[in-house]
Amino acid sequence: MKIVKVENLSKVYGKGSTEVKALDNVSLSIEKGEFVAIVGASGSGKSTLLHLMGGVDRPTSGRVMINDTDIFQLNNDKLAIFRRRQIGIIYQFYNLLPTLNVEENITLPMELDGRKVEDGELDDILKLLGLTKRRKHLPNELSGGQQQRTSIGRALITRPALILADEPTGNLDSKSSNEIVELLRKSNREYNQTIVMITHNLEIAKCADRIITIEDGRIK
Ligand SMILES: Nc1ncnc2c1ncn2[C@@H]1O[C@H](COP(=O)(O)OP(=O)(O)OP(=O)(O)O)[C@@H](O)[C@H]1O
Ligand SMILES: [Mg+2]
Repeated sequence: MKIVKVENLSKVYGKGSTEVKALDNVSLSIEKGEFVAIVGASGSGKSTLLHLMGGVDRPTSGRVMINDTDIFQLNNDKLAIFRRRQIGIIYQFYNLLPTLNVEENITLPMELDGRKVEDGELDDILKLLGLTKRRKHLPNELSGGQQQRTSIGRALITRPALILADEPTGNLDSKSSNEIVELLRKSNREYNQTIVMITHNLEIAKCADRIITIEDGRIK
């Protein structure tokens, strides 16, 4: 069963002389339970594609189906709810809320959805991510890697069917990188979560079931 279907997706930023075609008529599909890596040069359109698959931005043309929902047919409010329930996004630049501490950032998607975090679950995630001692710290009191791990916790806490990860190990040393990829692999296997992960690291890409290469906004 396909969980993601991307059809003829294009995204153009700017107008006239500053116009950039970041995605050029991209079509692809992802099976439920697949672990896919997206690779490509800087500026090739990887983050743009991931943001569109996650419904955090709207395309210039084309569509994205997630579990048979045509997500851009939803209005902004419905799309936000859909995203919160179905998708976990790990952003390249973390997008943590500066006034919330580590545990508040991680539990935010549950809070927004009026869901309760099970006893011990937050502790488990903090432990898994090596953030137990930093749980009360604000983002500006954390290293880049700790902020990255916080954003991973926030994407995992809802146990979403689909996890979209933009360079989830971009700011981590090789030991922590391997641990994060192992963690994603485990979520993939144990909870049958579908994972789409952007990476510049070919060793990490090799852990995936399939590698998609993007070049100048197109799939190679
Ligand atoms: N908000 C924006 N406004 C204008 N142009 C943008 C915007 N976001 C991205 N772009 C342009 O779209 C193209 C694709 O950007 P994107 O962020 O998707 O690349 P990427 O493959 O994720 O690169 P990187 O590996 O450096 O993160 C780039 O040429 C970029 O300059
Ligand atoms: Mg990017």
